[in-house]
Amino acid sequence: MNIVLGITGGIAAYKAPDLVRRLKERGGDVQIVMTASAAEFVTDTALQAVSGRPVRSNLWDKEAERAMSHIELARWADVILIAPATAEVMARIVSGGAPDLLTTICLATEAPIAVAPAMNHVMWSNPATQANRKVLEERGIHILGPGVGSQACGETGAGRMLEPDTIAAAVFDLGVGKGEGLLTGKKVVITAGPTREPIDPVRYITNRSSGKMGYAMARAAAAQGADVILISGPVSLPEPPGIEVRKVVTAADMFDATHECIGDADIFVAAAAVADYRPADMKKQKIKKNEESMSIDLVRCPDILASVAALDVGPFTVGFAAETEKVDDYARSKLEKKALDMIIANRVGDDCGFDSDDNSVNVLWADGEQRFAEASKTELAHDLIELVARRFYAARGTDTQPRLTVIANTD
Ligand code: PMT
Repeated sequence: MNIVLGITGGIAAYKAPDLVRRLKERGGDVQIVMTASAAEFVTDTALQAVSGRPVRSNLWDKEAERAMSHIELARWADVILIAPATAEVMARIVSGGAPDLLTTICLATEAPIAVAPAMNHVMWSNPATQANRKVLEERGIHILGPGVGSQACGETGAGRMLEPDTIAAAVFDLGVGKGEGLLTGKKVVITAGPTREPIDPVRYITNRSSGKMGYAMARAAAAQGADVILISGPVSLPEPPGIEVRKVVTAADMFDATHECIGDADIFVAAAAVADYRPADMKKQKIKKNEESMSIDLVRCPDILASVAALDVGPFTVGFAAETEKVDDYARSKLEKKALDMIIANRVGDDCGFDSDDNSVNVLWADGEQRFAEASKTELAHDLIELVARRFYAARGTDTQPRLTVIANTD
């Protein structure tokens, strides 16, 4: 995939070399276009070294324009990614102004454009920026993030640039779109992320799931040609293009959303970290701290995975098992107890499984298993979906010839 990476002047530009590396790892050919203010945060020497191409920054550079003019660059790109994208560049694209090379390319291209905003949270929530975001979205420009968290200015809020691996995965999927592959014509329902079980209007019980694994599974299934419905708990990941996303909050919401669309599904993958228990009743008002100690009555949440596996005519059902010890033993016992077709045993802890970019798993089914070494969740998901597809066809007794998913530009 030919990627024009536009880097604008925000502190998150220091992550640009890592982003280039992540894009290249996925097979991207990256041409960097920097604005003048980006050069205040990262050097073109570093960027040229990681991208393997001279960095472009000047619309009036006769030498560079001779080699590849701004129009050629606009045509060469399969996707234009701007990361970090400042409030200023978003405003310029909205206005149609083209005072520099990057905005000129944006105006001259027919390729999809994605922007990963990065700015102070007050700038992000400013009505002008939000109005620009809305216009960009209406014009089909993909907005990746921003994430929420601590910022370089010392404040906390929405405005952090998403992590390079998350951006690279989203961009790669933009270019790939919905592929042709092992799952063409099949419907795949996937749950992802945590659930939130309210205690009172301001507090809830949740867990550390980021949704990265489930979203990666959804993108991988779409890349194999599946029609994917992604049922997502509250996460701060961009919605994967070409995938129907249903946002839910509680385990009960996720249960309902799953059963609304599972009827004609071929495959169900439960990657969500669903609460096992919820408060018996949500207090209508904020609980006051009058007592030295307090307890909350918890009741069991519905088990979505087990309920799907128990359907008379149900999909091929794949669970995850997040365990901190005896991972394979507990996973196999869940496989049997819930009568699943497959289970993906996932060691989790302080430093693995939840909220990391990488993962390693062992997949178990009735008479076999396959171990997957540590890899990025994106790469791992592609391998897992391929295995799920093969086991699905084997279980249905319809062997299928594996076809290659075409992810490269063919011109
Ligand atoms: O989201 P990330 O930060 O990327 O982290 C990924 C992950 C660690 C959350 C993911 O890889 C994972 O392991 N997901 C399953 C988490 C989990 O809840 O495991 P469990 O062993 O508690 O549950 C077993 C299975 O039952 C899971 O498929 C779960 O989705 C499902 N379940 C559990 C409870 C419930 N009420 N309903 C369910 O469907």
